[in-house]
Amino acid sequence: MTSTLITGIGQLVVDASRPPLHDAALVVDDGRVAWYGPRSGAPASDDVVDIADRCIIPGFVDSHSHLVFAGDRSAEFEARMSGESYTAGGIRSTVSATRAATDEELTRHVQRLVQEMRRQGTTTVEIKSGYGLTVEDEARSLRIARQFTPDTTFLGAHVVPGETDPAEYVALVTGAMLRAAAPHATWIDAFCERGAFDADQARTVLEAGRAVGLKGRLHANQLTQGPGVQLACELGLVAVDHCTFLSDPDVDALAQTGTIATLLPGVEFSTRQPWPDARRLLDAGVTVALASDCNPGSCFTTSLPFCIALAVRDMGMTPAEALWAATAGGARALGRDDGGTLDVGAPADFIVLDAPSFVHLAYRPGVPLVAQTWVQGHRVHDATSARDTTTSNAQTPRGTHHG
Ligand code: NIG
Ligand code: FE
Repeated sequence: MTSTLITGIGQLVVDASRPPLHDAALVVDDGRVAWYGPRSGAPASDDVVDIADRCIIPGFVDSHSHLVFAGDRSAEFEARMSGESYTAGGIRSTVSATRAATDEELTRHVQRLVQEMRRQGTTTVEIKSGYGLTVEDEARSLRIARQFTPDTTFLGAHVVPGETDPAEYVALVTGAMLRAAAPHATWIDAFCERGAFDADQARTVLEAGRAVGLKGRLHANQLTQGPGVQLACELGLVAVDHCTFLSDPDVDALAQTGTIATLLPGVEFSTRQPWPDARRLLDAGVTVALASDCNPGSCFTTSLPFCIALAVRDMGMTPAEALWAATAGGARALGRDDGGTLDVGAPADFIVLDAPSFVHLAYRPGVPLVAQTWVQGHRVHDATSARDTTTSNAQTPRGTHHG
């Protein structure tokens, strides 16, 4: 095994809950962080990479995405931007397109989206099923997702497919569909919301999953102040996602049980809903994670830098809180208590930012700052290799004068 010294780190965020180091270096050995500290004290290593005073942060952990789908719902987004509201029913149009796609088409699409995530610094991703909604189509969605991550989630309880009796569908989800899905899934999820599943149905699904060894998570309180957050806390789930509409007892329950509130601000951006109140949650002692929820309906972004910028600008989070929520917070929401940091022994999953400080993630919204992404000590994305070769002359904008 060769060790690599990364030096010239202008700012190093080891754990976003602690102050960053300056003029630092980091040693990667066997895919893990072997050492970090002041640049002048770095041990000898086989290879040396100098990042020229830029910033290194832990890789993003995106604990909530729906990447296995086909079709396009940009017309729905366009209608929303002219005043229509988001409803759960739109899911069914993606279900038709997904069922019609071949395995190869779905796999290529997931691969494209995972690469897009890598280019934006995501090093760990969770992927849900939920656009198949038949025994076969849910199982194949999870089989495809498993090629990209161990964190696969069975979401047969996404919506009741058209022309189906809800009680019969819940019986299918907890019976034959669960049996076919379980070998390819780590987690089980349900969409507890008006237009999808009520609390009793969601409980039935989560308990059936638990009985076969799947761990629960839940979509809740996205469109209404429904019963989902209370259910998640009562069942002791590791995370409950969306949390846009919360009562005071909901916030208390999250604080008391330690169930993580995963906020998905790309959804509120794309549906013109009110922002989830991260400040209220943090002040109450709730652990907050940030994730993309990348899906074709409510939010088609893969960018955690974008979500961080929204969380800082509109949800009352400090840049450090938002970074923690998108790294260590995401890792905890996937049940990994030691993930999302660059402590010694942690996986060497990190990002080189083309910026002097992590604050630039929110300070420079929409700018592609991720220069490199490393996963387990391997560089999986390097923006310089894609950089164009345009000369300064050719780049001169029209109307400006040279010399
Ligand atoms: O997390 N809330 C449920 N599922 C997705 C949206 C699905 C869709 O509209 O296609 C979400 O927002
Ligand atoms: Fe979702």
